[in-house]
Amino acid sequence: MTAADPLVERLRAAGCVFAEDEAALLREAASGDALEEIVARRVAGEPLEPLLGWAEFAGLRVAVAPGVFVPRVRSELLVDLALEGLPDDPVVVELCCGVGAIAAAVRAARPDAEVWAADVDPDAVAVARRNLPPERVLIGDLYGPLPRALRGRVDLLVANAPYVPSDEIAFMPAEARDHEHRVALDGGADGTAVQARVASGCREWLAPGGRVIIETSERQASLTGSLLDEQGLAVRVERDEERDGTAVIGTWHPTSAREADPAHVTPD
Ligand SMILES: C[S@@+](CC[C@H](N)C(=O)[O-])C[C@H]1O[C@@H](n2cnc3c(N)ncnc32)[C@H](O)[C@@H]1O
Repeated sequence: MTAADPLVERLRAAGCVFAEDEAALLREAASGDALEEIVARRVAGEPLEPLLGWAEFAGLRVAVAPGVFVPRVRSELLVDLALEGLPDDPVVVELCCGVGAIAAAVRAARPDAEVWAADVDPDAVAVARRNLPPERVLIGDLYGPLPRALRGRVDLLVANAPYVPSDEIAFMPAEARDHEHRVALDGGADGTAVQARVASGCREWLAPGGRVIIETSERQASLTGSLLDEQGLAVRVERDEERDGTAVIGTWHPTSAREADPAHVTPD
């Protein structure tokens, strides 16, 4: 019988379900005093990935750091959808990019893409600049920092904007609630406050035939969809049961009848 691994036992006692895997990853990340420090922080309840300095996402190891949103497996659905039907040399923008995992995965699969990303949180932007060409990662509120030259040229706009209703943040797992910035989680009263602003601004930036993909929850999908529908986009919802992912896709067909409605035309 092999002796118990004290690190595994310590992690297990702290409630880590995959204690053996975590022990191996923590040992890979650090040794000596540095290992003891990250183990102590993990045992105290910090999420694993920021302690390792990376998270696995869509087959990539993306840089992450304490405080910023750790990319979730469910968001890999957005990558799969993003890669469907992209034209040659596409322009791709990830709003609310966090560490830029979705943009980085699209860029890895499509080296011909001109990929931009933006986020309002300086800590997230600093990390995203390690996962993407730094000059393509911008800081500011939604569309605010994008170069004006991108207007009307974006083939794909993808956003996992915060969508947790404010009152429900208190019920999230502690690893998110206590260790990720509130700006990454808080979607306002019904969860769609930031999504609504993504939707209302999209027409100015999309190329004809361009798509918007927004992550949402199963429960909120119709609300998110209606935000894109109001902008005259053709909307569909995709659900991935295995990864527990839900996304709304809106495609802008400028020849549609709704485009003729002046209420749907963004003023210059
Ligand atoms: C749920 S996290 C998603 C991050 C990343 N897209 C991902 O999937 O890993 C939402 C992100 O939106 C950013 N955010 C929230 N409000 C924003 C705003 N008004 N403008 C730009 N970014 C915003 C947060 O800082 C956070 O990084």
